[in-house]
Amino acid sequence: MTADLVINNGIVVTPDAAFPASVAIKDGKVIAVGAADAMPAAHETLDASGLHILPGAIDVHVHFRDPGYPNKEDWESGTAAAAFGGVTTVFDMPNTIPPTGNGTILAEKHAIAAAKAHVDFGLYGLLGEDTIDNVPELIAGGVIGFKLYMGNTFGKIPSPSTGAMLEAFEVVAETGKRISLHAETNSIMERRQTRLTQAGRREPLAHLDSRPAVVAVEAVSRACILSEWTGARIHILHISSADELRPLREAKARGVDVTGESCPQYLFLSTDDYSRFGGVIRVNPPVREKDNQEPIFAALQDGTIDMIATDHAPHTPEEKTRNDIWAVDCGFPGVETQMPAMLTQVNAGRMSISDYVRWSAYNPARHWGLYPRKGAIQPGADADLALVDLSLEWVVDDAKIQSRSKISPWHGRKVKGLPVHTIVRGRFVMRDRTLVAGTKGWGRSVHAIQKMPAPDVRNAGKTMRAVTNGFRPSPTTESAA
Ligand code: NCD
Ligand code: ZN
Repeated sequence: MTADLVINNGIVVTPDAAFPASVAIKDGKVIAVGAADAMPAAHETLDASGLHILPGAIDVHVHFRDPGYPNKEDWESGTAAAAFGGVTTVFDMPNTIPPTGNGTILAEKHAIAAAKAHVDFGLYGLLGEDTIDNVPELIAGGVIGFKLYMGNTFGKIPSPSTGAMLEAFEVVAETGKRISLHAETNSIMERRQTRLTQAGRREPLAHLDSRPAVVAVEAVSRACILSEWTGARIHILHISSADELRPLREAKARGVDVTGESCPQYLFLSTDDYSRFGGVIRVNPPVREKDNQEPIFAALQDGTIDMIATDHAPHTPEEKTRNDIWAVDCGFPGVETQMPAMLTQVNAGRMSISDYVRWSAYNPARHWGLYPRKGAIQPGADADLALVDLSLEWVVDDAKIQSRSKISPWHGRKVKGLPVHTIVRGRFVMRDRTLVAGTKGWGRSVHAIQKMPAPDVRNAGKTMRAVTNGFRPSPTTESAA
C-alpha cells in the first residue's frame, strides 16, 4: 500500500504525551503512527524536523457572519483565518441574517459554508423563544448542537424567558445534542445599562460596570439547574470570571452533563488594557479585573473548564471605534491568534503542550461526539493536523491577519509558537504560512460523523409535552385563546 503523505521527524502530541513519531496519511485519514522505518511508501513525504504535530484545534465558538454581514467576515475569510491559526474545525454561531432558526435557513447556510470553507465546520441551530418547535427540522438539516442566548446579543436576538428555556431544554434533552449557552442574564444587564446611561457613563469601563460577574454567575447557576432537571447536555460559553467556577464545579460534582470553555481574552486581557484599546476591547462577557485570570487558568488545569474557544466576533474598524461605548459593536477576531497565544504559555512553562491539545482538540471532540474521528492522531482518525514551530516568534499585526476584521486588542502582542502547516483530512490548506490555492470549498460539515451518547432524559413525565398530552399550540389556537 502506498500512503498519500508521510510526515517524518516531527513530535506527535496527544493529551497524554509528546513523542517522536512519523505519521502516515491515506485518503484523508491517519493510517499509521510510529517509527519512520515502519511507515509505508508514500507519494509525498514532509520533513517536520523541529515541528510538533498537533491534532488541529476545534474552535466550538466562532461568528463567521455569513450570510448577513460580508463587511465583517464571510466563510472564506473566516476559515482562512482558522487555517492560519491551526484550527481545522469550527462551530459557527446562529446570529447571522436571517438567524439559523429553521430548516430552510439552515440549508442555505450549509450551502454557503460548503462552497467557501477551507476547514471543516459545524453549524449551531438557534434555540429561541419561537424556535423550539423547529428542533426536529434543525436536527434533520444537520446541526452540531444548539445555541441559546440568555442575554441579548449582536443581531438583536431576544433572550428566551426561563419558561421557554425549560421547555427548550426538555425538547433537546431527548435528542442528546448539547446546548451552548451565552450565560449572562439579560434583565440585570439591561437595567444597569439604562441606569449607567442616565448617569452619563459612556466610556469603555461602563460596559464592564453594566455586567458584573454576578450576571454570569446567576445565568450559569440557572442553566445548570434546568440541565439537571431535564437531562439536557449543556456547554457554558466564554467563562470570564472566577465567580462562575463555583456553580460550574458544584454542577459537575452533582453529575450534571455541563462543559465549559474560556477564551484567550479572559486569560490574557484585563481592566488594565481598557485605556489602551478603548472600545476595541468591548466584548460580551466583558474583559474583567486581572485577579480573574489565575483562577480561570487553574480551572482549565483541574478540568473545571474543559476547553479553549475564541468567540471570534469580527466587526469593522468603524464599528469598533465609536466614541460612545454603548454604540460600539461587541467582540473581536481571535480564531487566528488563539493557538499562538496559548503556545506562548507552553513556552513560558505555564502548561504542557499536551494540556493544550486536551483543551483545544481532544475535549471539544469528545463533548460533541466527534472523538476519535476528530481530536486524535491515531489510525482511523481524520488527518486534521496543525504542525507548529514552538520557536517561531510573531508580533500580531491586525493589518496582516486573514480575518476581514482588521482590528483587535491582540494587535502588537508578542507571541512565540506558530502553526506553519495546517492539514484538513489529509490536504494542506495552509502551507509555510501561505493559504493553499484551490482549498476553498474543501471544508465539510461534521454533523454527519457526530455520535452523541444516548440521551439521559430526566423528569420525562413532567415535561410540557407530557402534561399537555403532546399538545402544541398552533398560531390559530393561540390567537383564539
Ligand atoms: C458576539 C457577536 O458579535 O456576534 N459578540 C460578543 O461580544 N461576544 C455575540 C455574543 O456572543 O454575544
Ligand atoms: Zn456569546
